[in-house]
Amino acid sequence: MKKFKRTIVTAALPYANGQIHLGHLAGAYLPADIFVRFMRLKGEDIVFICGSDEHGVPITITAEQERIPPQEIVDRYHTLNKKAFESFGMSFDNYSRTSLPIHHKTAQEFFLKLFSAGILKEKKEKQYFDEKVNMFLPDRYLIGTCPVCKSEDARGDQCESCGSYLNPTDLIRPKSKITGEVPVLRETSHWYFPLGQYQERLEKYINEKNEQEGWKDNVLNYCQSWFEEGLQDRAVTRDLDWGVKVPLEGYDSKVLYVWFEAVLGYISSTKEWSERIGEKNKWTEYWQNSETKYIAFIGKDNIVFHCIVFPAMLMAWNDNSDQKYILPDNVPANEFLNYEGQKFSKSRNWGIDVQEFLNKFPADPLRYYLASNLPENRDTDFYWKDFQAKNNNELADILGNFINRTLTFADKHFDSKVPEAKKLREIDNKFLQSLPVYKKSIETFYEKIKIKEALTEIMNLARAANKYFNDSEPWKTVKENKEYCAASIYTSIQIIRALAVMISPVVPFTSEKIFSLLNIKDQKLKNWNGCEEPKLSFGHKIESPSILFKKIEDKEIEPYLTVLEKSEEKNRTGNTDSLISIEEFKKVKIKIAKVIHCEKIAKSKKLLKLKVDLGTEQRQVIAGLAEFYKPEDIIDKKVLVVTNLQKAKLMNEESEGMILAIEDEDKKLKLVEIGNELPIGAFLR
Ligand code: 2FM
Ligand code: ZN
Repeated sequence: MKKFKRTIVTAALPYANGQIHLGHLAGAYLPADIFVRFMRLKGEDIVFICGSDEHGVPITITAEQERIPPQEIVDRYHTLNKKAFESFGMSFDNYSRTSLPIHHKTAQEFFLKLFSAGILKEKKEKQYFDEKVNMFLPDRYLIGTCPVCKSEDARGDQCESCGSYLNPTDLIRPKSKITGEVPVLRETSHWYFPLGQYQERLEKYINEKNEQEGWKDNVLNYCQSWFEEGLQDRAVTRDLDWGVKVPLEGYDSKVLYVWFEAVLGYISSTKEWSERIGEKNKWTEYWQNSETKYIAFIGKDNIVFHCIVFPAMLMAWNDNSDQKYILPDNVPANEFLNYEGQKFSKSRNWGIDVQEFLNKFPADPLRYYLASNLPENRDTDFYWKDFQAKNNNELADILGNFINRTLTFADKHFDSKVPEAKKLREIDNKFLQSLPVYKKSIETFYEKIKIKEALTEIMNLARAANKYFNDSEPWKTVKENKEYCAASIYTSIQIIRALAVMISPVVPFTSEKIFSLLNIKDQKLKNWNGCEEPKLSFGHKIESPSILFKKIEDKEIEPYLTVLEKSEEKNRTGNTDSLISIEEFKKVKIKIAKVIHCEKIAKSKKLLKLKVDLGTEQRQVIAGLAEFYKPEDIIDKKVLVVTNLQKAKLMNEESEGMILAIEDEDKKLKLVEIGNELPIGAFLR
């Protein structure tokens, strides 16, 4: 590995249109935090950057669904996610947001540099346009039939059913997601980044970095498949009004493509940090100095943007500037964490948000479980039962138990002080000598970002420590040879400190508690360097033991499993409302009827009085349709009527049935109309 003077670490900027869930943590944030905390323990110069990605179509779609401005959406989720990250113990140096002026300025400058250098090319193209709301439709605003699997709800960029990547024009029968209208193709122009021109340099760049740092196979394979397909020009502008405005005259209805500017958010967040700490230019040390190493933590869905698009953008800048940016030295993307065997899904109520989780359980057991189960090389799953078992059988029964039994002994027999180790036996010496060996291998795993292996090794040490405690039998020696007993407890206390330091990147809150129990205030004794050495000497006062890990009872996780069973049932039956039996449904009689008469009801804004022909009889029905239909528009329509409802009186008029209508997105009612081929009086079955 090449030696660097300092390191910058970034973690993907989460979209501020929803709350982060456990999958996000395992994908990028937890491994990044563990790595950064380890590097800080070693005394390395490192800056950890993140923030909210506040632009892009997912945000405008959420805003439209909730009928509030995008700014309100991003304000809400930026605050929620920032807080959730804090509760989880994420130790970012800066958590910024891409709606800040510093980011808009950074992104616009970047665009202008590439524009002025003649790198960007303008292309005219036809794009779907929704005439009803007068706007071009970004790909995610289009829905239609997938040309591959024929699923009817494919998006303009991808079909979720079969996973095919699509272009909006690939969709069969496209419709606007906003209005449901059929869109028209209209000409628009956009600026394109010639990604294809950088392919050779990108391949070389990835090969070199891989040789230096050892990239992950999943990342290399993913990039390779992009290279094999051949890189294409990519549009870096969009017809939208939410985002970073294109800084060119006549382009004020366009914004920079969210991925073009979001990756630059790492730079603007570092600038914000520099200003905050009062060293305005410090950010350049981290971004524009070849002695700095850059590691970008992301989930696998972000690989192309971080390994291909962002490096190419930086190359393009560097070709045209004296201030040269460094490129990612490693992009250790993880696969996905699923939830109880299925993908996280908000719409299917499958998953749990970070904050909701942390309202019930402390952060460290979650950090520990996720760290031991990271999707480093393949997808993994969060299972409640595993979470409980990891907490109870490993944190509590192995780590907690060793600490507890040692401190109990010190408390009871050595006046809560580190005992004097006059005579270390072979068993004690052997264990103390094993500490540097453990430390070396754990350090190597952390450095190589093999978090699961680092943690396995730490727990091997904790297991060995319990065995050592058993084998040295202090409960016997306390009666038979107190010096031996003192040596065991002295040794065990040194091991506790080593463990607390080594595991602190994973469970930082617990390590701090352990340091308090050991009465360690000096930061030097919490650092990586020397953690393997017996530095707590005779007479050092320590605290009485207290519980470090509370066992998780079945009843604490049962509510979550019950929710899952219900969601499963709903998803299986496709029903998200409370379920009724087929017998109950069969009780409802619905018939085709023809409206033969319709008039307004005096003094009512909402009600119409209709006479319907059911084939065998005629009935009067009162319907709340007056705001949406004129009486003459309804006459002769064939509609559906519920015929076995109890009679009701509305505005003194009797109603002998109910006409079925649908509420559209604008809360307008539309009659369910029946075609002429079906006969009046037929039952719906
Ligand atoms: O996938 C996401 O949530 C994106 N908002 C990640 C962006 S990472 C970087 F580009 F900022
Ligand atoms: Zn499909």
